[in-house]
Amino acid sequence: LNLSVVDQHRRPLTDLRISVTDRCNFRCVYCMPKEVFGRDYQFLERDELLSFEEITRLVRIGIRLGVRKVRLTGGEPLLRRGIETLIAQLAELRTLDGEPLDLALTTNGSALAVKAQALKEAGLTRVTVSLDSLNNEKFMALNDVKFPVERVLKGIAAAEEAGLGPVKINTVVKRSANDHELLPLAEHFRGTGQVLRFIEYMDVGTSNGWVLDEVVPSAEIVERISAVHPLDPVPPRNPGETAKRWRYRDGAGEIGVISSVTQPFCGDCSRARISAEGQLFTCLFASEGFDVRALLRNEHGESGAIDSTDDDVAAALQGRWKARTDRYSEHRTELSPTRKRIEMSYIGG
Ligand code: GTP
Ligand code: 5AD
Ligand code: SF4
Ligand code: SF4
Repeated sequence: LNLSVVDQHRRPLTDLRISVTDRCNFRCVYCMPKEVFGRDYQFLERDELLSFEEITRLVRIGIRLGVRKVRLTGGEPLLRRGIETLIAQLAELRTLDGEPLDLALTTNGSALAVKAQALKEAGLTRVTVSLDSLNNEKFMALNDVKFPVERVLKGIAAAEEAGLGPVKINTVVKRSANDHELLPLAEHFRGTGQVLRFIEYMDVGTSNGWVLDEVVPSAEIVERISAVHPLDPVPPRNPGETAKRWRYRDGAGEIGVISSVTQPFCGDCSRARISAEGQLFTCLFASEGFDVRALLRNEHGESGAIDSTDDDVAAALQGRWKARTDRYSEHRTELSPTRKRIEMSYIGG
């Protein structure tokens, strides 16, 4: 049963990040700019999306390869109708060690106030909420749909109350867009038990007009916060973690920095991603996916083919992971900037 696998750099496959929809009710300027994701944008049709049964089957097979962590993403995953049903199905699964999965979800928080309780009851372990500013005007400009920051803060509180905490807060830092908000954000979450993580603005996709000048290096972020509230480094919990941890010297908790641009963390990257339509990507920056849905639905067109068994799907995934050499962030500067890249809203971060 155990088909655990490592890739060409001896990295195991332990995390599966599954996008459940490519739609979002926000139009964050660095992710789904309105000029690209406007009225005419063609999102996936319902029958193109993996069904809950297909996702659950895929995760069950992933577990045989070593998966222990599953993160649901989007677009905005809470827009997927009946998401609680999927969570309940995934919560039943057990890892190779017989443990429940670490079952997390990344959300913009807009529907959390309404949904947190149901998500917890369905078996979700924890949530991560994206929040780029505490200033309402700025926040509304960043999400570009005038969504008030107060409702996201209420969502975070609801998640804590429902027992989905400690909530992690993700802040993408883009120079001159929100880099003056770092200290207010840090101070807001200091002492709450919630963990704020600053993410370097990345060159994902091709529609956000990324330029290196707009990246604020994590070292600078840590320095700026530490100047006011001294910080000390904390050792990682697991290899392959995205965030470097820093602790307030006065005991008010910790923050994290995710430095994909200035300090890439490909070395232990154990993450595979599945798009909402069932394409497997072995790197956030991959140009090409592998059509797992075709395999699950047995659509590869072989005449007289019988249904793919779980063993068939497992063998295919194992083969893809074994061949994996991805370490995009470490090679970013050597690669062509015009190279094809998938959008964050499609693959979910
Ligand atoms: P936990 O440790 O389970 O809480 O999750 P995480 O550290 O994977 O954090 P999360 O899923 O919240 O990811 C935070 C952000 O880090 C994402 O939104 C991405 O912007 C970035 N990120 C996550 N995984 C990768 C990765 O494999 N490569 C790169 N370059 N960035 C990543
Ligand atoms: N760079 C870094 N992080 C990004 N996210 C979206 N686009 C980018 C980008 N270009 C983050 C979101 C959210 C997660 C899904 O990915 O803010 O926290
Ligand atoms: Fe939606 Fe998240 Fe992208 Fe913002 S960053 S547009 S909330 S998917
Ligand atoms: Fe993993 Fe690719 Fe991110 Fe590197 S750039 S950490 S290989 S997903």
